[in-house]
Amino acid sequence: MTQTLLRKTLAATATVAAVLLAATVLAPPRGHAQTPSPTIPIGLDDAARSALGYVIAPVPLNLKGKNPSQLAQIGLGSYFVNAIGDCNGCHTSGGPPNFNYAANHNPYFLSQLPTMVDPTTYLGGGADFGPALPFNVPPGTAYGSYVGPDMIARNLTPNKNGLPEGGMSLAQFTQILRTGIDMDHIHPTCTSPTGGPGGTPTPANCIPPPVNGAVLQVMPWPVFHNLSDSDIAAIYQYLSVIPCIDNKTGTPPAGAPNELRNDCGNGTPPPSKYLHGGDSVPQDPLSRQLRRAH
Ligand code: HEC
Repeated sequence: MTQTLLRKTLAATATVAAVLLAATVLAPPRGHAQTPSPTIPIGLDDAARSALGYVIAPVPLNLKGKNPSQLAQIGLGSYFVNAIGDCNGCHTSGGPPNFNYAANHNPYFLSQLPTMVDPTTYLGGGADFGPALPFNVPPGTAYGSYVGPDMIARNLTPNKNGLPEGGMSLAQFTQILRTGIDMDHIHPTCTSPTGGPGGTPTPANCIPPPVNGAVLQVMPWPVFHNLSDSDIAAIYQYLSVIPCIDNKTGTPPAGAPNELRNDCGNGTPPPSKYLHGGDSVPQDPLSRQLRRAH
């Protein structure tokens, strides 16, 4: 029933898309060649983009129990995630050499098969973007050789209950995309360069000012911030139907060893995301020195 409905919706919207595309391609040039014609459509409408979203989704989607309006939203969400937002370019759990692409399907390499995203690492998180250091501020100014923790993309896949990012509500998700707030407080702003044990910066895993550790770094929330509420909801709906990944191999952010783990309902649930009170966070001065040397 749902499948039939979906097929019908896809067929109808694909027709609309085809008509729009044909209009774009076939419309005869009017007036001066360099003047864009006002009759040429500037883009596909939501229904056509939703249909395209289903075509380009690189993973199987769990559409069980979804009603027509949710199905339309999910397709649109896929369009934003897979055609515009490049969420998987950063949130992949794949590593070098192919990162988010399947082996032999990497479009940046010679002699490759057609481009194909690796579905096994899709939005599983773990990509490492290095420490958050502003340019032109000598790292040694107040914090000595301290450079702070690496920024690690998080796991965006849903948990066994179909809630994205391991259990996030739509309200939380919207707030993150609008404000960039890090609800996990993984890397607070340092309050003292020397207040910790042995004169280390505090609190643990902090980012030195002027960087604001309360907001997500690298993540393009200052751009996603401009999305409409319904577009954010569409992305959320899409992220709730992609396959769950319990990422046991990615390097988690410092201080949150199980941040990339996810309860996919396949047996023993993963451990709690964070270190328990009193656990020490391993310091790694050598790797910090090596990073400084770059
Ligand atoms: C340029 C790389 C990049 C892109 C593109 C990107 N992200 Fe992110 N995202 C990150 C990084 C890195 C973090 C973690 C940042 C930190 O720890 O400060 C993050 C964090 C997040 C979080 C917070 C998760 C949590 O646990 O609180 C959400 C939600 C999120 N991203 C969603 C998205 C969505 C949805 C898209 C696509 C529409 C997207 N991201 C595209 C890099 C990116």
